[in-house]
Amino acid sequence: MSSKNKKNPQKPSQEGPSNPTPPPGEQPTQPKANKPIIVDIHTHMYPPSYIDLLQSRTTIPLLRSFPGHPSPRLVLLPSELPLLSHPSPSHPPGRPLTESYTSLDAKIAFMDKHSISISVLSLANPWLDFFSTSPDTTTTTTTTSPDTINAAAIKINTEFELMCQTHPNRLYFFAVLPLHPTTTTNLTNLTEIVSSLTTSTFPHCRGIILGTNGLGLGLDDPALDPLFHLLQDLALPIFLHPHYGLPNQVFGPRAERGEYGHVLALALGFPMETAVAVGRMYLSGVFDRFPRLKIILAHGGGALPVLAGRVESCLRCDGFLYKMEKEGKGGRMERSMGEVLRSQVFLDAVVYSEVGLRAAIGAGGEGGVGRLMFGTDHPFFPPLGEGEGEGEGEGEGEGQWGSVVVNREAVDGVLGEGSEEAGMVLGGNAIRILNLREEEGGEES
Ligand code: URA
Ligand code: ZN
Repeated sequence: MSSKNKKNPQKPSQEGPSNPTPPPGEQPTQPKANKPIIVDIHTHMYPPSYIDLLQSRTTIPLLRSFPGHPSPRLVLLPSELPLLSHPSPSHPPGRPLTESYTSLDAKIAFMDKHSISISVLSLANPWLDFFSTSPDTTTTTTTTSPDTINAAAIKINTEFELMCQTHPNRLYFFAVLPLHPTTTTNLTNLTEIVSSLTTSTFPHCRGIILGTNGLGLGLDDPALDPLFHLLQDLALPIFLHPHYGLPNQVFGPRAERGEYGHVLALALGFPMETAVAVGRMYLSGVFDRFPRLKIILAHGGGALPVLAGRVESCLRCDGFLYKMEKEGKGGRMERSMGEVLRSQVFLDAVVYSEVGLRAAIGAGGEGGVGRLMFGTDHPFFPPLGEGEGEGEGEGEGEGQWGSVVVNREAVDGVLGEGSEEAGMVLGGNAIRILNLREEEGGEES
C-alpha cells in the first residue's frame, strides 16, 4: 500500500550522530511545503590523494590509459579484471574518469543544476578495501604497513573535511576507515582515527562509509565488534555500500566476455551483495550485540526489503539453528529481521522505481517514510553524451541526470509531489537523522 494515504506517518525519535553539538537554540531546517530542501546522502568523489593511490597501482582498482581514449579509465569491478589483459581497443574496461569524480566545482555545479541544497559526500568504492583481503584475491595488498593505510584514511578524510569547509551549509561527509587484517592488532590507532571523527577536527563528518568486506572476512567477523562498539558509542552511523557484487560466473560466459557491460553486476550483483552482508550481520548477532548501532543501506537496502520476510521464514524453519537453540548454543536472534529494519536500519532512496521505493518504505514499517533518504549515486550513471566520439559515455551529456530525475519521480509518484512525506524523504529525514544544521555564515543554495 502506498503510504501516500497515511495522514500521520510515524516519525522516529531524534537520533542523529553526536557531531557536532548544535549551537543552543538552533533549530533543524524544516522542508517547505512546496519547494522541499533536497539532500543527497549518496554522492561520491575521489579526492586527490586517492587518485594518486589509484594511479600507482597495477591491479584493480586502478587508473589506466588506453591508446585512442583521451581520458584515463577507472577500472574497479572484479568482473573487469579478465578484460584488462586483453582490452578491446574500442571498448576497454572501466569507465572514463571524468571531472565529476574529482572536481568539487563539478559537484557543486551538479548540485545547483538539480536544486540539491546539501550533499553528504563519500569516497566511492572500493575505498581502502584493496589493502585488505578482498573476495577477489588478486586485489590483495597485505604488505602495505598499517601506518600507510592509516595515513591514507586520515588524508582522505581531511580532504573531504576541507571541501565541506569551502561550502558551509552545503556539504558534509561520511569518512573512510583504514580497515586491514592487522587492524585488530592495531586497535588503538583505529580507535583514535574513529574517535577523531566526532571532534572539532572533523566538524562535517556525519558517519562512516563501509563496504561489505570488513577486515577481509565480511561484516559478521567478530573481530569487527570493537569497531561496531565504538561507532555505537559515538553515534556515528554506518553508510553500507556494495562493491563486489556477485561472482561474474553467476552471470554466464557472455557477461564474462563483457558483452553486457556493467549492467548485471551493478543492477543485480550490488543489491544481492548488500542483502547478503546484512543477512550475515543479522545471523551473527551484530544487531543484538549493538542495538544502538545505526546503519544506512545504499540503494534502498538492495534486495533486502523484499527478502527480509524470506530470511525470517527460513530462520524459523532451520533445523540446525533450532537444535542450537535447544542446546543453548545460540541460533536465535532477539528480534526478527523486520524489527531490526524498523529500528536500526535506514535506507537511501536510490532505487529508480516506484515499486522498489514502496518496498523500501514498507521495510521500515509504520515509520518507513521517516527512515528513507534521497540520494543520486553521482557521478556514477551519467547521462551519456557524444563525448569523445565513442558513444559510451567517454564524455558526459549536458542534460539532467537520470539518477536524480528518476529517483525524484519515484518519490513524488509514491508519496505525492509537494507532500509532507515527499519532503521528508527528499531532505527532511536526512537533516534530522544526520543532524545537518545551518552553520553561521553558510552558503545559500
Ligand atoms: N555506484 C557506485 O557507487 N559505485 C559503482 O561502482 C557503481 C555504481
Ligand atoms: Zn554509490
